[in-house]
Amino acid sequence: MKVYITTAILTIVLLLGAIGYKQQFWQTASLPVDHEQQGLNQQIVINFSHVVAEDTPKGRTAIKFAELLEQKTNGRIHVIIYPNGMLYNDDNELKALQDGDVQMIAPTFSKMTKVIPSWQVLDLPYLFHTDEDVKKILNGRVGEQLLNQLGHVDIKGLAFWNNGFKQMISEKNPLVKLEDFQNLKVRSMPSNVLQSQFELLGASSITTSFDELYSEIENHEIDAQENTISNIYSKGFYKVQNHITLSNHGLLGYAVLMNEDFWNSLPPDLQEDVTEAMSEATEWNFQMAKKMNKVDLEKLEKEPNIDITSLSVAEQKRWEQKFQPLYTSYKDEIGSVFLKEIQSEVNH
Ligand code: LMR
Repeated sequence: MKVYITTAILTIVLLLGAIGYKQQFWQTASLPVDHEQQGLNQQIVINFSHVVAEDTPKGRTAIKFAELLEQKTNGRIHVIIYPNGMLYNDDNELKALQDGDVQMIAPTFSKMTKVIPSWQVLDLPYLFHTDEDVKKILNGRVGEQLLNQLGHVDIKGLAFWNNGFKQMISEKNPLVKLEDFQNLKVRSMPSNVLQSQFELLGASSITTSFDELYSEIENHEIDAQENTISNIYSKGFYKVQNHITLSNHGLLGYAVLMNEDFWNSLPPDLQEDVTEAMSEATEWNFQMAKKMNKVDLEKLEKEPNIDITSLSVAEQKRWEQKFQPLYTSYKDEIGSVFLKEIQSEVNH
């Protein structure tokens, strides 16, 4: 009897085991295998933070780069862009990059001059006169040498992007004659050359991050600023400052930066894809930025209350003369290597 009971229990246990195995087998066998989902586990994400709107030269080039890179890597790299300073602003984006909280940023080179003082050369007023000169320098041998300077601060420099030439914009009076700057509060990015540029004209320079600029103008803490037409248009500065002087006195461009440990963690084939996507996006950037500043100027010209003045040739000569001491100070403080190289390559 005991033997019968034991045999019956054993048979039931074996039967239940077999049924369970069969169910599990069919469940596993019938699960759809999604190779794309499996691939997603290995997908690499680049978080790219910047401070301007999407519809600007920097915003659009960031999107172009993201598209090109995703295509080249068949989706192995996915770039998420955070525009408008929604993640980090001018004051904390560099730290976020160095800490690896984001993998890419693209500050103006002026905002990097405290870290890389030699980059102040790019802030010297009237160093560049044409878009072709800008491209030749930023996208050529000098640009490469300037980017290599980032090795000292453990950042991978990928490229320089352009926005365009800066113009003056002010609230009360047009800024045409040098004397018009006397006693004004002028916003400057954190660069010694830019600060001295306004101080030379008898103005006081106030350093403000881009995200706070609009409200400081509205609150009359700032009388004037320099910026490109595309930034003036996209950020709506013309609604609170309606005198624009087309002075083309300085260059506004960006250093496109990647966290160095992140770069080193990429396998060689993906590094190559990043380099290729960056070089194509950069080539596209130079054409598109020029076009965008032109189109946005046409839109501003149609605005009823905006007064737009171009500097006469004679007035521009006066501005250029006035700014000469900035060249001397740069040479004394930093040296003349980059300056000489740039001057020998651009048309003067
Ligand atoms: C500014 O701070 O005025 C601009 O440089 C912002 C930008 O990134 O274009």
